[in-house]
Amino acid sequence: MHLPNSVTIVEVGPRDGLQNEANFVPTEHKIELINRLSETGLRRIEITSFVHPKAIPQLQDSEEIVKRIERKPSVIYSTLVPNEKGLERALAAGIEEIALFVSASETHNQKNVKMSISDSLKGFRNIAEKAITHGIRMRGYIVTAFGCPYQGRVPQEKVEFIVEEYKKLGVHEIALGDTTGMANPVQVVRMVSRVSPRLGKTSFALHFHDTRGAGLANVLAALQEGVTVFDGSIGGLGGCPYAPGASGNVATEDLVNMFQEMGIETGVDLPKLIDCAKYAREIVQKDLPSHLINAGTICWEGT
Ligand code: COA
Ligand code: ZN
Repeated sequence: MHLPNSVTIVEVGPRDGLQNEANFVPTEHKIELINRLSETGLRRIEITSFVHPKAIPQLQDSEEIVKRIERKPSVIYSTLVPNEKGLERALAAGIEEIALFVSASETHNQKNVKMSISDSLKGFRNIAEKAITHGIRMRGYIVTAFGCPYQGRVPQEKVEFIVEEYKKLGVHEIALGDTTGMANPVQVVRMVSRVSPRLGKTSFALHFHDTRGAGLANVLAALQEGVTVFDGSIGGLGGCPYAPGASGNVATEDLVNMFQEMGIETGVDLPKLIDCAKYAREIVQKDLPSHLINAGTICWEGT
């Protein structure tokens, strides 16, 4: 099996995970969760969204979150930005990385951001220009890259077209999102082999939701194809409010556990991460789908 020595984990729980929670999680608790996550060795955390507060009421406190978290120099903090207004807000709050997002499915993009794919991409041009002027890194998400809950399979060419557009904009990383957990390992291998050669120096990340239980299998498939950046959500928090039936990303602690057991370096302290998952469970006041939260780490002593 061909495996890398190390991987990078991008924690998206405070954004992707919380955005779908119906009950408002108090700002103090979100800040505490992000601060605790910052102490685990994670290097990248997506902390909130500068989207319309009516679209995602849960993240209406984004300004406060950005301003009040205790930032660690070793961590890059990022926020989702849908349009120029979002960028203005992100700049005013003071952020070092933004994540743009557009769906590979026309219907999903319309429902999610009330725009066509082409209008989203057009809007990104001004955003990218400004972001580059301000020295802000950009991640580019391709949402529903592996399938759409409204349209079904999305054409591979559409994903590749958006990859090219993002490259023109100067994103540092492209993240393919399996928004509603429709991907399977064979599809992942095919996708990675088609997209990787187009990326050049642009980093390649995968963002799997575990809706149908194939999350870790998909990660393993991508890992063997050379991908080394994976998104996870603490506790497996999450879903997408514009994707019916969606559930959370692969739980970060399940991801880290699998990598560690395979001898792949993550730089993350697993017991501390499990404590964060328990804290996440406490603040959303419900059970979370994480495996490690219940099973704990693997203990070899005495066996
Ligand atoms: N933040 C705050 N307010 C915003 C905004 C933003 N990023 N973008 C637009 N607005 C405001 C405008 O200023 C305008 O306000 P006004 O009525 O007081 O003048 C109003 O919203 C309408 O602007 P418009 O550009 O027509 O936005 P819209 O209603 O078409 O909504 C989005 C477009 C993208 C802002 C909205 O659909 C959205 O935030 N979607 C996010 C979806 C999401 O996060 N999904 C999960 C991630 S996959
Ligand atoms: Zn997601």
